[in-house]
Amino acid sequence: MDPEKLETTISGAMDASLIDAVLGEAEFEQIEILREPEIGLSAVVAIHHTRLGPAFGGVRCHPYSGLGPALADALRLARHMSLKCAIHEIPGGGGKVALCVTPGMDRGAVYRRLGDYIEQLGGRFYTGPDTGTQEADLLALGERTRFVARPDAHGPGSIAEATALGVFAGIEAVARELDQGIAGLRVMLQGLGAVGWPLGERLAAAGAELTVSDLDQRRLERAADEWGAELLAHDVPAPTVSCDVFAPCALGGVVSDDTLPLLGASAIAGSANNVLADARCGRELHRRGILFAPDFVVNSGGLLFGALFHLEGASPPPERIAAIGDLLARVFFEATVQDAPPEQVAEALAAQRLQAAKAPPFFPQRDAVP
Ligand code: NAI
Repeated sequence: MDPEKLETTISGAMDASLIDAVLGEAEFEQIEILREPEIGLSAVVAIHHTRLGPAFGGVRCHPYSGLGPALADALRLARHMSLKCAIHEIPGGGGKVALCVTPGMDRGAVYRRLGDYIEQLGGRFYTGPDTGTQEADLLALGERTRFVARPDAHGPGSIAEATALGVFAGIEAVARELDQGIAGLRVMLQGLGAVGWPLGERLAAAGAELTVSDLDQRRLERAADEWGAELLAHDVPAPTVSCDVFAPCALGGVVSDDTLPLLGASAIAGSANNVLADARCGRELHRRGILFAPDFVVNSGGLLFGALFHLEGASPPPERIAAIGDLLARVFFEATVQDAPPEQVAEALAAQRLQAAKAPPFFPQRDAVP
């Protein structure tokens, strides 16, 4: 079953058919729930695919309304991580932790306990940041496990900045499809966080005309001062802004039945995961001639950066991340040839590679892990 459908099911009844769907059809290798009320730990760990190598995926820390939505999020995100590995032919797969923000949560203790859990997986899962996980949290994880992309001298460097570099290269590829360059490109940038901010810096430096939105007023003011960015009026939804590229860099689901009829962009390319509320929205974008850069391709710079650091012992050079632009251009070309939505083309390519993996799931010997 598609994790998107699971999400719908989860918000309905939690019955045996759901459990069957999760354990059977969805083909996840491992799903665990971690709970320790004394410190406020409540999390879902999903490991999707390790037949090509260890699972890679960050910790998303979010005020989920319960474990059901956390499970749905972990499943969707973990599957996307597998697709990212496959599309880059990285010997690894996807995993994710969906960590619930709980009242009175002892943040340091929660991340350290999560670190204990990840360490005992012995290298089957290598983790890093996602929305809501800060540098201090990664350092807390790093106190207990070797299998985390640390933000200090012991780690690969900033995963978010690598993601931003990949998104920038993706927007360059999108601009080429629109017969434009970055200079003068009108970009609506939604979210000025760990990825959105360095992306905005690159775009502004290259001469893009930015309109920006964020919940944090100080970031908005800085963007106006430093980049000359226009600030989005509070009552205007970002997807409706008339522009060349809409770059969603906050949360997913921004292209939905509600926003589709109002979309003002010629193309969509940003870091947010699961930009499309469902596959139907992607088909509708294609029908309307709005170019969509598949999120799991365009936002894969961080995965490349962290995974290659772990697998090869050194961070890849910026050119390796920027090659995401070329990969995207190939996806767009194939989508034109097939007259199919780009995300469908990219998913089919990645899924083929995952299905071709014949090795058993990855359970490393403790001593064999770097
Ligand atoms: P973040 O939490 O650092 O930044 C998100 C920003 O969006 C914050 O500044 C927040 O105020 C803003 N925001 C939230 N809701 C908003 C709204 N409705 N309108 C405008 N702004 C809003 O998150 P981060 O790490 O920058 O990630 C952003 C997206 O990119 C997420 O979907 C994440 O899953 C995805 N992503 C992040 C990667 C990374 O390396 N950090 C890697 C791949 C994907």
